[in-house]
Amino acid sequence: MAQNVLVTGTGREGALGYCFVLTYLKQGDTVFATVRKPSPALEKLKEQYPDRLHILEMDIGSTASVRAAAEEVARLVPCLDLIINNAVVTTPDYPVHNPFEEMTLDNIAGAFDVSTVGPLRVIQAMQPLLYQSAGTAMVVNISSGAGCITTCRNDRDLDYCMIKCAMNMSSKILYNKYEAEKKVRVLAIHPGWMRTNAGNAKAPFDPYEHSERMRKVFEARRESFDGVVFIDYDNREMPW
Ligand SMILES: NC(=O)c1ccc[n+]([C@@H]2O[C@H](COP(=O)([O-])OP(=O)(O)OC[C@H]3O[C@@H](n4cnc5c(N)ncnc54)[C@H](OP(=O)(O)O)[C@@H]3O)[C@@H](O)[C@H]2O)c1
Repeated sequence: MAQNVLVTGTGREGALGYCFVLTYLKQGDTVFATVRKPSPALEKLKEQYPDRLHILEMDIGSTASVRAAAEEVARLVPCLDLIINNAVVTTPDYPVHNPFEEMTLDNIAGAFDVSTVGPLRVIQAMQPLLYQSAGTAMVVNISSGAGCITTCRNDRDLDYCMIKCAMNMSSKILYNKYEAEKKVRVLAIHPGWMRTNAGNAKAPFDPYEHSERMRKVFEARRESFDGVVFIDYDNREMPW
């Protein structure tokens, strides 16, 4: 059955958010592609899918912006069946992988507010729409292996690792919140290293193929309230 899907951080062609938009459009779904600034790539895609692609400006660092977007979604559809929290921002130090001594620590709070609190703003504002889904609604937080404490050998990238680690915790807390009523399934996923930009040219995964692979993983997990929250792109449970 066709679903209503919302994806954040979708404006960059070839990045993961854009690839998810394409994947779900190809599935026949209605997609709310959110951006923080106009995206020529999405506008072009809209010509191909004028009825099923809705482009919304939504800055996940702003509660007012997220609430306004939720009102717009509610004006257009009665429910959301899937939210993919994909957007991320790190400190301007990234991706230089600055060592601790060189990091501008005052930048971390701003990145955290967007990348960790931002997805929570989205879920909170869109929750009434998730509850209206005819089946089990889903929230997928795009996390990273960088957020694992158990396997961490990193001695830098404090901001990114902390952001994803905290996102994992928030995913678990919301999983627990929704578990009893089995109405909203929450997942955090490590997508693996993808060729989403020039700096990632050596990465093993093509984000277009990979978003389709992850779509199948999400569906495999949708009805399973088994306590597994943090997984990888191959549906394997990840250590925290
Ligand atoms: N690429 C990888 O190999 C890899 C590996 C592990 C995990 N991940 C995760 O996968 C996701 C996608 O990765 P990617 O490489 O495709 O990311 P990306 O190219 O950096 O895209 C991030 C998107 O987030 C948007 N964004 C930033 N701040 C925002 C805000 N305040 N409000 C709304 N949107 C905002 C950006 O918008 P603008 O275009 O306006 O800047 C951009 O479109 C991220 O969560 C990332 O951490 C990626």
